[in-house]
Amino acid sequence: MTSTIKISPSILSADFAKLGVEISELEKAGADLIHIDVMDGHFVPNITIGPEIIKDLKKHTSLPLDVHLMISPVHKYIKNFAEAGADIITIHPETTNNLIETINEIKKFSKKAGISLNPETTIEKVLPVLNLIDLVLIMSVNPGFGGQKFIKETLEKVRLLRKEIDQKKLSVEIEIDGGINFDNAKIAKNAGVDILVSGTTIFKNNKGNIKKNIETLRNL
Ligand code: DX5
Ligand code: ZN
Repeated sequence: MTSTIKISPSILSADFAKLGVEISELEKAGADLIHIDVMDGHFVPNITIGPEIIKDLKKHTSLPLDVHLMISPVHKYIKNFAEAGADIITIHPETTNNLIETINEIKKFSKKAGISLNPETTIEKVLPVLNLIDLVLIMSVNPGFGGQKFIKETLEKVRLLRKEIDQKKLSVEIEIDGGINFDNAKIAKNAGVDILVSGTTIFKNNKGNIKKNIETLRNL
């Protein structure tokens, strides 16, 4: 079972004109990972950043870079993100026509592999590869934008996965992403989440006091 919850702030809510500074502040404020949302305007209706920026951001923190790829087709880009310094590479199963090959591609670069499930995607998509991966990212909003409303029905998938992972004694972590706030972080933890992603709550609450917001999320 989960002991201390990890916090992975999403820089989607940061000021993109000063990302380096924002990232080192997140590290000082006690973040465990840095969540980087990569969007292509095709798999999701928004465009963010690519490997060149990640490569430069890597110099501003010693925290693991938790890279969430919302791009399709994803396979040919794994190398670029691995070489840019991603530590965890999470993909959506819909973005590859051979999930196992893409997981192996991530592993080839000695990176942690994550699989992300959209709100309407069932856990059956990930169960056959659970023993090959390091992380399952449960989307609690439809991917594309920060600041959306938490879809609480997605917690049922967290509960089912927690049971499966514990029963099989796997070391797969469960991460939840989207709409996490001070009202729902506790139920997410109780459902069995290991890592909370949060953008809006960390960057916008308490006049942007990221330290206070990270601590509050962790200690709820
Ligand atoms: C949505 C992204 C999330 C998002 C979370 O597609 O994957 O990481 O930035 O932001 P909040 O916490 O604002 O929902
Ligand atoms: Zn994300």
